[in-house]
Amino acid sequence: MFNNQPVSYSGVQPSGNLTIGNYLGAIKNFASFSEAYKCFYCVVDEHAITVRQTPADLRRRTYETLALYMACGLDPEKNTLYVQSHVHEHAELAWILNCFTMFGELSRMTQFKDKSAKHADNINAGLFTYPTLMAADILLYQTDVVPVGVDQKQHVELCRDIAERFNQLFPDTFTVPEPIISKSGMKIMSLADPTKKMSKSDENVNAVVYILDDKDTIIRKFKRAVTDSETCVRLGEGKDGINNLIGIYSCFTGKSAEEIEKEFEGRGYGEFKLAVGEACADALAPVQQKYRELLADKGALEAQMKKGAEEASWYARRTLSKVQKKLGFVKI
Ligand code: TYM
Repeated sequence: MFNNQPVSYSGVQPSGNLTIGNYLGAIKNFASFSEAYKCFYCVVDEHAITVRQTPADLRRRTYETLALYMACGLDPEKNTLYVQSHVHEHAELAWILNCFTMFGELSRMTQFKDKSAKHADNINAGLFTYPTLMAADILLYQTDVVPVGVDQKQHVELCRDIAERFNQLFPDTFTVPEPIISKSGMKIMSLADPTKKMSKSDENVNAVVYILDDKDTIIRKFKRAVTDSETCVRLGEGKDGINNLIGIYSCFTGKSAEEIEKEFEGRGYGEFKLAVGEACADALAPVQQKYRELLADKGALEAQMKKGAEEASWYARRTLSKVQKKLGFVKI
């Protein structure tokens, strides 16, 4: 809550090509908060360097992620859209919060365990303290709600614990945020292994549908999606592939699982997969069109970054200054 206005905050890493998991689990829902909340949506480039990035790719993807935010319906007049490294308060508050976060808490984070298994040659301290930087992002803006996919819920819960611990020592410092997990886009699974999250870092490109894939590619990927040996389009235990496709179709069409089961009664998986691919491609076509227009004007994107950074800094400065005063840092 800032000036009696509830705040929505979220972020996306510019660390790869964004997937329909990022879209359905997070970005698509961001715009729905614009009317009732003061909204901040960040391109979290500082988080991205916890795993090695090629500098030119990181730079390009930072522009692309901002353009995608806007192409997905985030109006920069109604939402503060900015890049994390442009607001230095994030890194400063993260340091302070590191001193209020326990080693054991960070050790329990499943994303840390997964990523350190995947990048065994680079288990750096930043990867370990990643969640305190994320807590700093959220707490700087006195955030009430954090729309994220279910994989980020544990981080938001740790952020709540850190905020409560800090508030106990220094009352009324931070708003304690709530994660908002959209029911439909909770967790979009890999098309090649539907027991695994669809992830932008997956090496198998057929496992992942990117927001910017063209229609033929999208349809081909859905056609190849791993399912099971049954033929009936129905939710069921152990039917991870079909459950995932029903979830995706439901997100893109707004239909309930029951409606979908009825629609495909007596029709095979082949027909269903084609329908999912078409619904996905049709829904993404206007986003892709808008994205291409926005990306063509780099100057406008840079102007947007600057405006977003100025807006965000105003809020971030206020919270950081309050925290520093409470801690006993001398102000000059
Ligand atoms: P990131 O960049 O991995 O993902 C961005 C958002 O997309 C969601 N998501 C998914 N949702 C459903 N199914 C999937 N397969 C899927 N894959 C990704 C994520 O849950 C996320 O909401 N740590 C965050 C970024 C971050 C952040 C923040 C988020 C940094 N600071 C502050 C919220 C608030 C991350 O790595 O997201």
